[in-house]
Amino acid sequence: MDIVGIILAGGLGKRLDPLTRIANKHLLPVYDRPMILFPLKKMVDAGLREIMIVCGEKSRNEFESLLGDGSEFGVEKLSFTAQIGEDGIAAALALAEKFVAGRRMCVVLGDNLFEDDLAPELDIYGRQKEGARILLKEVPDPQRFGVPVLEDGSLARIEEKPEEPKSRYAVVGVYFYDNRVFDIIRTLTPSARGEYEITDVSNDYIQSNDLTYGYLSGWWSDCGTFESLFRASRLVREAKTEVADD
Ligand code: G1P
Repeated sequence: MDIVGIILAGGLGKRLDPLTRIANKHLLPVYDRPMILFPLKKMVDAGLREIMIVCGEKSRNEFESLLGDGSEFGVEKLSFTAQIGEDGIAAALALAEKFVAGRRMCVVLGDNLFEDDLAPELDIYGRQKEGARILLKEVPDPQRFGVPVLEDGSLARIEEKPEEPKSRYAVVGVYFYDNRVFDIIRTLTPSARGEYEITDVSNDYIQSNDLTYGYLSGWWSDCGTFESLFRASRLVREAKTEVADD
């Protein structure tokens, strides 16, 4: 499969201060393991063997001590690169261009935990040949996320953290992009919050009619706030208990 995995684990995690003063957000515990291991396992379980982690510069050593060469976790080729400062998710993705080397990619935000297997989506995207694919999930608080505007059954655009969401869905932090993504990122300008937004990248694909979307059916949570981090721990614990009870 000529699709590589990229986990974006940079950023300062300011909304989790003081937890993130010393520890990187993506290394914080979610029930029984550091957060980053969840998206990593999802990728490996779906058959991705070549993975790059874009982490914060201050915590690169910690990521490397935890993950080593990746073999313990089923990764054949694990690479790291560091994002300096907090200039946004799209800027973090741009750092992976050389590693991606012309291939297509599955990008997962390091603080996104979800129940669904990635394999079926990877399969659908694999058959798509080019363009992008994103995933949606119905949530009670869409204003915290990228929100799809669905008009006449098709995706018109995505609005980033709108005060008045036009749908009940969030764009989850799982994106499939072809190599054109890097050209798109080069055309972006920072948003009002001073970041290069992944939503602007997906909107560019929508404008050129080159983006498909699907839905997550199982649970999903980000871990960007105390509440969502707590919820993610609870969901992971419940999932483990269900397996143990079977
Ligand atoms: C980011 C994206 C947003 C997406 C979310 C998923 O938001 O900008 O579009 O819905 O991840 O977790 P963040 O919470 O990182 O600002």
